[in-house]
Amino acid sequence: MGGKVDWFVIPECVEDILEIISFINNEGYDWFVLGNGSKILIPDRGFSGVVIYTGRLKNISLDENVLIAESGVPIGELINLSIRHSLSGLEPLVGIPGSIGGAVVMNAGTRYGSIGDVVGTVEFINSEGTLIVKNGPYFGYRDSEFKNKKVILTRVSLRLKRAYLAEIKSKLILTASLRKTQPKYPKQFGSVFKNPPGISAGRLIEEAGFKGFTYRNVQVSPIHANFILNYGDSADDIYYVINTIQEKVYRLFNIKLESEVNIIGF
Ligand code: EPU
Repeated sequence: MGGKVDWFVIPECVEDILEIISFINNEGYDWFVLGNGSKILIPDRGFSGVVIYTGRLKNISLDENVLIAESGVPIGELINLSIRHSLSGLEPLVGIPGSIGGAVVMNAGTRYGSIGDVVGTVEFINSEGTLIVKNGPYFGYRDSEFKNKKVILTRVSLRLKRAYLAEIKSKLILTASLRKTQPKYPKQFGSVFKNPPGISAGRLIEEAGFKGFTYRNVQVSPIHANFILNYGDSADDIYYVINTIQEKVYRLFNIKLESEVNIIGF
C-alpha cells in the first residue's frame, strides 16, 4: 500500500541491478527493494527515491534436490515445482503470498517451519554494488541478517529432501488447515505483528478490544485480530491503526508489539 514514487525500476538480471546501484550512488537517491509487496507500507504522500522491483528476476533451476531461484519467484511457484519433483521442505510455506526474496529477508513461515530452515546460500548485492554469496546466513523468528539492511537479494538456493508425494501432500494439507483461523478477504494482510515471546499477538490485540475495530476504510479482522482488512486505498490509515494498536497494547499490558510489516518512510 502507498503513494507514488520517483523512480520504479524493474531489473531483469544481476547486471541491471549493478547498473541501478551505481546510478543511485551517483545521484545520492534513497531506495528500497519491492518483492511481491505483500507486507509493505509506503506513505500516501509517496516515497522520494528509487524502488527496485524484483518481479522479473524469475529464473529457476533444479540441481538434484537443490532448488535455485531468483529472488522474484513467487513462493507458490516453488512449492508447485517441488511437488512435481517429489521434493519436501517448502510445505510449511504454502499459502504465503510473497516472493522468495521477501520470504528469505523476513524468514517467512508458519508454526511448522520457516524458509530459513531450508536455505543453503543467498546471493545478494550490497549498497556499494558488490555481489556477495553467503552460505548459511543467520535466521531468527521472522528475522534474518538481511532484514532492515540496504541489500538486494538476487538468488537463493534451497536444500530440499526427496520424499513420497503422499507425505508432501499431507504436510501441505496440515499447513493449509492453519489458514482456517485467518481471514480470506483478498485485500488483507497479516500477521501484522510478531508474537512476543510466549504470547499470541492476536490474543493481546483481541483482549485490548480491537477485534472488528474500524477506522475509515481499515478494519481489524473480526476473525483474527492480528490481520488487517483494507477496504480503501490509504496506507496512512493502516499506519494509524497499527500505531493505535501498539499504543493501547503497551498501555494495558506493558508489551511492545513489533510490526512484521515493512514500514517505509513514515
Ligand atoms: N488468538 C486469539 N485471538 C485472535 C487471534 C488468535 O485469541 O484474534 C489466539 C488463538 O486462539 C490461538 C493463538 O492466539 O490460541 C494463536 O493463534 P494462531 O493459531 O492463529 O497463530 P498466530 O500465532 O496468530 C502464527 C503466525 C502466522 C502463521 C500461524 C500458523 C506469527 C506472528 N504469526 O499466527 O504467520 O500463519 O501462526 O502457523 O508468528 C505471518 O507471520 O505473517 C503469519 C501469518
